[in-house]
Amino acid sequence: MSTQTRSASPAADRRAPRILVVDDERSMRELMAIVLHREGYDVLLAENGKTAIDLLERESVDLLISDIKMPDVSGVDVLRAAKAVDRDILGIMITAFASTETAVEAMRLGACDYLSKPFDVDLLKMKVREKIESRELRQENVMLKRTLGLTHQFANIVGRSQAMLDVFKMIETIARTNSTILLTGESGTGKGLVAQAVHFHSLRRDRPMVSLNCGALPETLLESELFGHMRGSFTGADANKKGLLEVGERGTVFLDEIGEMTPPMQVKLLHVLQERRFRRVGGLEELQADIRFIAATNQDLSKRVAEGRFREDLFYRINVIPIVLPPLRERREDIPLLADHFLAKYAELMGKQMAGISNHALELLVRYAWPGNIRELENVMERAVALEASPMVLPDSLTPAIREGAPQPQAATPAPLESVPGPGFDLEAHVQEIERVYIAEALKRAGGVQVKAAELLGMSFRSFRYYAKKYNLR
Ligand SMILES: Nc1ncnc2c1ncn2[C@@H]1O[C@H](COP(=O)(O)OP(=O)(O)OP(=O)(O)O)[C@@H](O)[C@H]1O
Ligand SMILES: [Mg+2]
Repeated sequence: MSTQTRSASPAADRRAPRILVVDDERSMRELMAIVLHREGYDVLLAENGKTAIDLLERESVDLLISDIKMPDVSGVDVLRAAKAVDRDILGIMITAFASTETAVEAMRLGACDYLSKPFDVDLLKMKVREKIESRELRQENVMLKRTLGLTHQFANIVGRSQAMLDVFKMIETIARTNSTILLTGESGTGKGLVAQAVHFHSLRRDRPMVSLNCGALPETLLESELFGHMRGSFTGADANKKGLLEVGERGTVFLDEIGEMTPPMQVKLLHVLQERRFRRVGGLEELQADIRFIAATNQDLSKRVAEGRFREDLFYRINVIPIVLPPLRERREDIPLLADHFLAKYAELMGKQMAGISNHALELLVRYAWPGNIRELENVMERAVALEASPMVLPDSLTPAIREGAPQPQAATPAPLESVPGPGFDLEAHVQEIERVYIAEALKRAGGVQVKAAELLGMSFRSFRYYAKKYNLR
């Protein structure tokens, strides 16, 4: 006989906080139910630990009040189960006598409070109110953070540039549709990350997202990966196998490097997109493909269409919603934000206390061209956190390329020398004269602004200042 009972809460515009009371003593349950119900809470009752855990898995609960000592399943076990369901559930444990052991254990699990039997009803009311209020406050904070964070971060995607704000907006708008998306951007610009964000904001989030790199597999393998195959359909096919289209049914299929797909595969994919049906390799049965496709490429697909290397009809089928991720060098305002984001990430992972990035190091990061985009920035920050002995990231723990401001456009290679100058030639003086001319000219073009002049010459501000001083140029 189960004694789980629900007492309806007084009507309110928002849901009344829900409390689960677990006690094997009937009189205690009833007392608490009356008191808490009168306070306006929605109360669930369970007579033992097992019933309580079943309830926790089905119902959302804000606060757990449980007797610690119960036969079979203890209150601490119930609390542990509650925390596994929802990390933020609060607990009040009731003990007949204070046992430090269980108290410590429950504390570790995050039961914030105790009541010892017999307890005063007013004390119960007060503790409950305190807990519920702190939970509500915390939830409001989380909500607030989310809304605030929205401008600089969406899911795990960080950015404040207009281009990225547009991307966030776009993901929000289109995630819940089933439209095919084409992500375009250089390597390391976050195409994979955006694909994930779309999936996890879609109604398909409880279904799998499967990815396939179309450039990494030979055609026959790619075909069987995508469509699956029947036993015996080719040498080596010794069993039937589901393809990603089946595994990803009602989910999302991410086709990475779609520009690399061979013409015959392009035809097959076009068929799936048009008919929403497909067959396994060697199979007769037509299978349904209820799938959201996201494709990505680091190439200019329209150019490949113009060159006759990518089917135009397929291009239009996948380019329903284009999202372009600009290279990092075209959204430098995102660099400080991203650098901080990765600094925090790796400091936490490596258990290091990091205070921040020095101004000079940040200057170098912002100025660098980032051919590997955000992936490169992430690697650089990981390395910096690993190497840095001080709590600040200083230029020395950045890679030489960044410290030197490279890669910059290559300087023209000097013309081969016709002859070696005769005796008396002073190479050092000659080189210095060239240096002096360049430094002076750069300063002139930069209107006397040294940072700018340094940039023109692809050198660090520090080296520039050194030369400017050496040649007495200001
Ligand atoms: N805006 C961003 N905020 C935070 N992290 C990012 C952002 N963009 C990319 N990253 C991170 O940078 C790395 C590279 O991103 P991702 O793999 O999504 O790039 P990609 O465009 O798919 O590259 P490729 O074309 O080489 O596959 C990942 O670790 C990703 O988490
Ligand atoms: Mg990728």
